Amino acid sequence: MTTTDAREDLLAGLTFPPGFVFGAATAAYQIEGAVTEDGRGPSIWDTYSHTPGRTFQGHTGDVAVDHYHRYPADVALMEELGLSAYRFSVSWPRVLPEGSGRVEQRGLDFYRRLVDELLGAGVDPWLTLYHWDLPQALQDRGGWADRDTAERFADYAAVVVDALGDRVRHWSTLNEPMCSALLGHMSGLHAPGLQDPVAASAATHHLLLGHGLAAGRLRAAGVDSFGITLNFTPMNPASDSAADLDAARRLDGQQNRMFLEPAVNGEYPADVVADLEAAGAPLPIRDGDLEVIAAPLDWLGVNYYFESTVQAGPRPAEKPTSFIGGEDVLELDPVGVTTTMGWGISPEAFTDLLLWIGSRAPGVPLVITENGSAWDDVVDAEGAVHDPERVDFLLRHLAAMTTAIEKGADVRGYFAWSLLDNFEWARGYAQRFGLVHVDYETQRRTVKDSGRVYAEVLRRHREAQ
Ligand code: FCB
Repeated sequence: MTTTDAREDLLAGLTFPPGFVFGAATAAYQIEGAVTEDGRGPSIWDTYSHTPGRTFQGHTGDVAVDHYHRYPADVALMEELGLSAYRFSVSWPRVLPEGSGRVEQRGLDFYRRLVDELLGAGVDPWLTLYHWDLPQALQDRGGWADRDTAERFADYAAVVVDALGDRVRHWSTLNEPMCSALLGHMSGLHAPGLQDPVAASAATHHLLLGHGLAAGRLRAAGVDSFGITLNFTPMNPASDSAADLDAARRLDGQQNRMFLEPAVNGEYPADVVADLEAAGAPLPIRDGDLEVIAAPLDWLGVNYYFESTVQAGPRPAEKPTSFIGGEDVLELDPVGVTTTMGWGISPEAFTDLLLWIGSRAPGVPLVITENGSAWDDVVDAEGAVHDPERVDFLLRHLAAMTTAIEKGADVRGYFAWSLLDNFEWARGYAQRFGLVHVDYETQRRTVKDSGRVYAEVLRRHREAQ
């Protein structure tokens, strides 16, 4: 079978429930640029990326893909691709430059313009309040390790919903609190770049608390489509040995269950609570917190990229662990083809994951808020970007998702990561995830083959309705 036949077979086999939402996702710091414009204050990612040695070749989001100025053209691209929805995040320090108190109307105006542009193009906005860019002023007061930040987050949510609640229906609090808490405070591979288990544990709890407190403010403003986005990595033991099984349990605990269980069931898993206590970093839970955190969800956002194989054994010093007390656990390198991120490719694990989440969160609809892959894309002499690996990844993951739906998972939507190539955090601009290629010299956008295939999936889905 030729590649084209295989692709057509995969495409033809894809069917989705009526009303299924298709979109693409981005995040403020990864695309906007304009970091000192219209009164925006600095965020922890400005500080981190400007600290020598933190990001690939010192890359920063100062300019990124200049979406702050180019959003009309970017929305036109979404329309061209036929997206029915767009997931983006609001930059907290654009709206509250000092993190709390004074509101910067010019920051809110940008999001008003963006949302109006989206609505005019028939693209439904899905707004995320926090995709990792904490105002530096709040970090200076302790950041997420400090309980007060949860309260400040709720106040910020109230400001944004007051400004945009009339035109944005779908609201999400946090993107991947696991990364904010554990990459930010344990391995230090993300901002604020700490390596402090006590802070990592505190940040975990305060992020979740902030989510719950913000839920109250959004509900009070009439929001009826409300969620949180968690990132899931299935953790498979390298063997059946008791040590490997326990290592996988511990990593699964902190990666997946520590965020899912409190958000949907109002309790931290007992084994995780015990692990954190044993590591000298107990969760700073106060009476009533878990009721706040368990605010009812209209949907749960699921980000999925890869699965991991876990082995007991000491880690090499150059690989700091992201898991509290995880110094004696190793995540093995994936076998087989990897993306340029070094991530393995496992669509089957995606099916199983969706079914597993469905079993832990019965009655909660799922929305895939991110899924995608990075490759070395180039614009060829004809001006095209051929990215067969990304096309393959996309179609196989869509197929894996539909298998999960057939088996009973209640999945309502899929957002590809990402609309555009962008600033991939510590990996800088070296990693391209977009359906649309960006030339970082000229800011020229070129729809990749994967973008065209995605548009075709969406076109067929619309026709089938
Ligand atoms: C996720 C992030 C997103 C992007 C992808 C590749 O963890 O939410 O911003 O960096 O990974």
